[in-house]
Amino acid sequence: MHKLVINGPCQLSGETWVSGAKNSALPILASTILCEPGSVIHRIPHLKDVTSMVSLLSAMGMVFSVDDKLTLTVEKSAIESTTAPSDLVKSMRASILILGPMVSRYGEVVIDLPGGCAIGPRPINFHLNMMEKLGASISFNGDSVHIKADKLVGAEIVFERETVTGTENTLMAAACAEGRTVIKNAAREPEVVDLADFLNKCGAKISGAGTSQIVIDGVEKLSNCEHTVVPDRIEAGTLLIAGAMTQGNVEVLDCNPGHLSSVLKLLTEAGAKLDVKDSSVKVSMSSRPKPVSLSTSVYPGVPTDLQAQFIAMNAIAEGESVVQETIFENRFMHVSELKRMGAKVNIDRDTAYVTGVDGLHASVVKATDLRASAALIMAALCAKGTSVLEDIYHIDRGYANIEEKLSSLGAHIRRHPNYMVL
Ligand code: EPZ
Repeated sequence: MHKLVINGPCQLSGETWVSGAKNSALPILASTILCEPGSVIHRIPHLKDVTSMVSLLSAMGMVFSVDDKLTLTVEKSAIESTTAPSDLVKSMRASILILGPMVSRYGEVVIDLPGGCAIGPRPINFHLNMMEKLGASISFNGDSVHIKADKLVGAEIVFERETVTGTENTLMAAACAEGRTVIKNAAREPEVVDLADFLNKCGAKISGAGTSQIVIDGVEKLSNCEHTVVPDRIEAGTLLIAGAMTQGNVEVLDCNPGHLSSVLKLLTEAGAKLDVKDSSVKVSMSSRPKPVSLSTSVYPGVPTDLQAQFIAMNAIAEGESVVQETIFENRFMHVSELKRMGAKVNIDRDTAYVTGVDGLHASVVKATDLRASAALIMAALCAKGTSVLEDIYHIDRGYANIEEKLSSLGAHIRRHPNYMVL
């Protein structure tokens, strides 16, 4: 099993770039089920989850081609089987995103209930209730669910709490439904907006994406389009926090600073100097970070996907901080691994109480979920000695070429087949 071997401490410095957003590429790929072939999608991130989605759609009959610039073309969009292969569905929770487009275009889908994952049970009740509201019938058979609909009819969908993929599935299910669908308490994430932009370019009639109320007027059918995926704001935030933690100077290119307001505010509070341009952010830090307390929240609040990274920065900050996780039930698995490196963190239910220490020491640590892995890498960059990060398939799910990007900033990080700490 591959491991990452990281020597610290180091100061990151230089320029790096972010890939296309994973959580935008995934719903956009799923939405091509609805469209004519021929769509050309630029800036597809080279990630395990993306290849899983392409494999899932290909196994159901679609055909894609990808060039060396990671531009993907939909060669064939017709599906031959409405049963999603369970091994591929189980490999990635985002498989749930095929539910809306499949029922819309083919009238049915059989899909395994996506397993919970490290960060919580990850139910899909909001998705299933929405499909029923639009006229689908739901039946369960063991751990798979069968959703059928002769036709989908627009309705008012009110989510009891914001759900990113729930909102995205609704956009895709309603795009060609009969009549008008109104989503209330819609998720406002930039990735939802990117999906709506893609669908509108293909002929959909969606307005209000990015606000909490979205209106979709169903159309006959969708054509195809050319689209560039938005930059990954979570990867950008991760790289900026890493630059601050290591007291370096890091410029992140090709990002969208407008998607990072809550993150930039916290970095400023931590004492970082920021130089923000139209499509880049430079972070400079010349001393230990000040502690920053936060509560994760739906967009435009502090993203839950950066909670672990902020805890890693607080772990070496000059003082106490309080970090509350309000989105997922169990998203502190990185804390026990950080404590193996000397971090002082106590958890009480949904809140982590962090006491910054002067320095961390290297250790062998395990990645537990996608974003936690990034936090462990960042901590290892600041720790004294050689750290080994195991189970790094988590990191490959969400960060394209992470060691290449960090090495280009001066990090001593390498992937090792079977590094043994003697
Ligand atoms: C999306 O997950 C992202 N994944 C997650 O990113 C991200 O952390 C999350 O949104 C929150 O921003 C993708 O976009 C592929 P939710 P999603 O539905 O849509 C509960 C990463 O690291 N809920 O917004 O699955 C749920 O348990 C991943 O890239 C229900 O109860 O999250 C959670 O507590 C991790 N029933 C809350 O709502 C449902 O039917 C918000 O979840 C759906 C969700």
